[in-house]
Amino acid sequence: MFADRILSGMRPTGHLHLGHYHGVLKNWVNLQHEHPCLFFVADWHALTTHYDMPEVIEESVWDMLIDWLAAGVDPAQATLFIQSKVPEHAELHLLLSMITPLGWLERVPTYKDQQQKLVEKDLGTYGFLGYPLLQSADILIYRATHVPVGEDQVPHIEFTREIARRFNHIFGREIGFEEKARSAVKKLGSKKAKLYTELRSRFQEQGDVEALEAAKSLLDEQQNLSIGDRERLYGYLEGGGKMILSEPQAMLTSASRMPGLDGHKMSKSYGNTISLREEQKDVEKKIRTMPTDPARVRRTDPGDPEKCPVWQFHIVYSTEETCDWVQKGCRSAGIGCIECKQPVIDAVLKEQEPMRERAQRYLDDPLLVRNIIADGCEKARKLAQETMREVREVMGLDYS
Ligand code: TRP
Ligand code: SF4
Repeated sequence: MFADRILSGMRPTGHLHLGHYHGVLKNWVNLQHEHPCLFFVADWHALTTHYDMPEVIEESVWDMLIDWLAAGVDPAQATLFIQSKVPEHAELHLLLSMITPLGWLERVPTYKDQQQKLVEKDLGTYGFLGYPLLQSADILIYRATHVPVGEDQVPHIEFTREIARRFNHIFGREIGFEEKARSAVKKLGSKKAKLYTELRSRFQEQGDVEALEAAKSLLDEQQNLSIGDRERLYGYLEGGGKMILSEPQAMLTSASRMPGLDGHKMSKSYGNTISLREEQKDVEKKIRTMPTDPARVRRTDPGDPEKCPVWQFHIVYSTEETCDWVQKGCRSAGIGCIECKQPVIDAVLKEQEPMRERAQRYLDDPLLVRNIIADGCEKARKLAQETMREVREVMGLDYS
């Protein structure tokens, strides 16, 4: 429950593109080596805005999962699953909805933004208003400590922290908490109990945050504490109740600005993408026909890389040496645009080669992906069920 655990989700949008790779997936691949990670397809989230398109979900889910695997997300290291296959998310969403003030949801910035952006859709729905809370349930049910997200999602993580705090405040109070907490301290053994107590007072009396962190990791290391005592000792550090749901932190993905073919942000809706598994000849064609600095009408006209989308690709893909070559050659009309594009074409193709190979394995044998996901769903579900047992108990629902 309390050691670090990373969780992130993505709406099923079908085939992913290089923007997703450089913005999100590369980061996931790095994280999976260092931390326990859970990555899931947020298929219910897709319905909050696209409830009128149920027919595309299934295909989008599998296409996207193949792209994750192609990008190097490794099911041997990370747990991959689909939200709707772990129905406990919905149960937690419902239970959290009981304590969620409407005003908190109405204040989430994406609520009004998206309604204005997607004017052609009626987003005056209960599901759409509640979708940040569904996201909170996604996160809290795994007691995730860190959530890699883009900047636009940070308010959702902040909202999730507030929900966790409110939940713990309302349901973390138990009769005789102090005594129970003190007897849990004793169970640590005299040495660790002393250390815990010292760290706790350093935090409570002097606001020493490092002491708080040290106390938390001390608890993380204890193998034989019951879940209840763990929650008490965690809660006892900071306040007067059990900590049932833990507050996650946003982990800002350093936005690698992968531009689209036209220099704007790469996005399906702009039609300026190169997909992860784009055919080689299409990659070549797309880059060859990319617009360049409009000042270079003739080969002999000098150009300015700052005004050229191809340069943005060099920034992502090329060595310093090649970048120098572009800068000098463009400004002096020493190189032509076709020439300039070749290293980009080569680099994109090289990056995609292992992805295409990995994807092919899964395309040849669709059962492979099904099995990976069945496995992941089972693992995720176990974790979710553990949290739900606690949640039901403190909400008065554990009777038969
Ligand atoms: N709302 C996120 C998005 O639109 C996707 C998402 C759903 C998510 N649940 C999550 C991301 C939980 C991180 C954690 O991109
Ligand atoms: Fe763009 Fe390269 Fe042509 Fe300069 S030489 S305009 S950077 S494609």
